[in-house]
Amino acid sequence: MTDEKLKQCLQEHGQTQLLRFWDELGDEEKVSLARQIADVDWGTVALWKHPEDLSGKGKIEPISGVSLDEIARNRKVFQKVGEEAIKEGKLGAVLLAGGQGTRLGSDAPKGAYNIGITRPLYIFECLIGNLLEVTDRAGAYVPLFIMTSEKNDAETKAFLKAHAYFGYPSDFIRFFKQDMAPAVDFDGKLLLEEKGRLALSPNGNGGWYSSLARTKILQEFPALEWLNVFAVDNVLQRIADPAFLGATILSGKMSGAKVVSKAEPHEKVGVLCLEDGLPAVVEYYELSEEMANARDASGLLYRHGVILNYLFQAKKLEEIAGKRIPVHVVKKKVPHLDEKGELVRPEEVNGYKFETLILDMIKLMGSCLPYEVVREREFAPVKNRTGVDSVDSARELLKYNGVKL
Ligand code: UTP
Repeated sequence: MTDEKLKQCLQEHGQTQLLRFWDELGDEEKVSLARQIADVDWGTVALWKHPEDLSGKGKIEPISGVSLDEIARNRKVFQKVGEEAIKEGKLGAVLLAGGQGTRLGSDAPKGAYNIGITRPLYIFECLIGNLLEVTDRAGAYVPLFIMTSEKNDAETKAFLKAHAYFGYPSDFIRFFKQDMAPAVDFDGKLLLEEKGRLALSPNGNGGWYSSLARTKILQEFPALEWLNVFAVDNVLQRIADPAFLGATILSGKMSGAKVVSKAEPHEKVGVLCLEDGLPAVVEYYELSEEMANARDASGLLYRHGVILNYLFQAKKLEEIAGKRIPVHVVKKKVPHLDEKGELVRPEEVNGYKFETLILDMIKLMGSCLPYEVVREREFAPVKNRTGVDSVDSARELLKYNGVKL
C-alpha cells in the first residue's frame, strides 16, 4: 500500500489515529505498520462500532448421540474401525495452543505450565503421553499439528524441543501459526500497542482450519481423512481415541464431538443441540430456563456439554473452508498507547477483541455425532489458578486417574 492509499483507507474508516506517530517511525517500522493495516479485515468494520454479538440463534432442539452404555456395548467394533484408520494414516491431531491463557495468569504458553507437585509434569507432557498410549497400541504415529500464535510460537517450539517433544517423534510434529486480529476501544477505534504496531491478539480458535490449510502442511500427509482437534488445557484429554474415531466413521456423520453429561442444568458449558435442524453448540446462557431444566427418561434433555475435542472429516472441511463463521465480541483489557505515545496498561476492560470459535464450525459441517465420555476420566480443564476448572481441580482429577504428581 502506498502512503497515499494507506491514508485514504484509514480516512474512509475513521481510523487515522493509527498514523499519529507515523513521522517518528523508521522505514522498516513504516512498512511493518502499513502491512498490519493492510491485513486488517475491513469487512468487519461495522461490527467495531456496534459490537453486538452476531451469532443469533435459530430454533433449538435436542440432538441424540451415543451414550456411555451404547459405547460400552459396541466398544470393540468402534475401537477396531478406529485403530484400522489410524494404522492407515487417516487421522491427524490438531492441538489448539494459540490462546493467551489470561485467566491462568502466566505469560508462558499454557502447555508449558508445570502442573506437577513433587516432580515437573507439564501440560504438553500430559497430552503427548495420552497420545503416545494410542499410537503405541496402534503401532503407528498420528501427525500432530500444533497451532501457536505470534505471541507464543517461538517459546512453544523452544520448550517442546528442549523436552525432546516428550517422546513424540518430531517427524510427525508440525507447527502452524494462527492469525491475529486487531483490538478496538469502545468507540470502535483501532489501538496501537507500539508506535509502529497495532494492538493485535490471536483471532480465536475458530481460525485453526484456514491457518492450517494455508500452510500446505496437510498435503504432506495425503492419506488424512479425519482431524481430531482438541484444546491444550484439558490435561485428561484423550487424543486420537480410536473408539471415538470408529464410532464417528460408522455413524456416517461429518463430525463428532466428545461430550460429558452436564452436572446440573446451569453448568457453564456449551451444549451440543440441533439449531434449525443442524448440529450446533449453544452457550449455556443462550438456553432458556425451561430448556435448561427440561428432562427425558435419561436425564437432562440438553445434556451434551462439549469439552473441545472434535473430529472433522477432512474433505468436508475443504468444502466449507471459504464460509464465514460468526464473530464473537469479547471485552478485554487492551494495553495501548495514549495520545502522547505512552503505554497504558488498563486495570479495567477498555476495548473489544474479535474472535471466531471452533464450536461454530460444527453447524457448517452439517452433521455431528455426540459421543459421551466419563467426565472424571477425560475432562480436567485448567482455566484458572484456583477454584472451578483450575490447576487445583485438575490436580485432583489427575490423582484420581492414578497420575503421580
Ligand atoms: P480459551 O477459550 O480457554 O482461551 O481457549 P485461552 O486464551 O486459552 O484462555 P483465557 O480465556 O485467555 O484465559 C480454549 C482453547 O482454544 C485455544 C486455547 O489455547 C485453548 O486450547 N485458543 C484460544 C487458541 O488456540 N487460539 C485462540 O485465539 C484462543
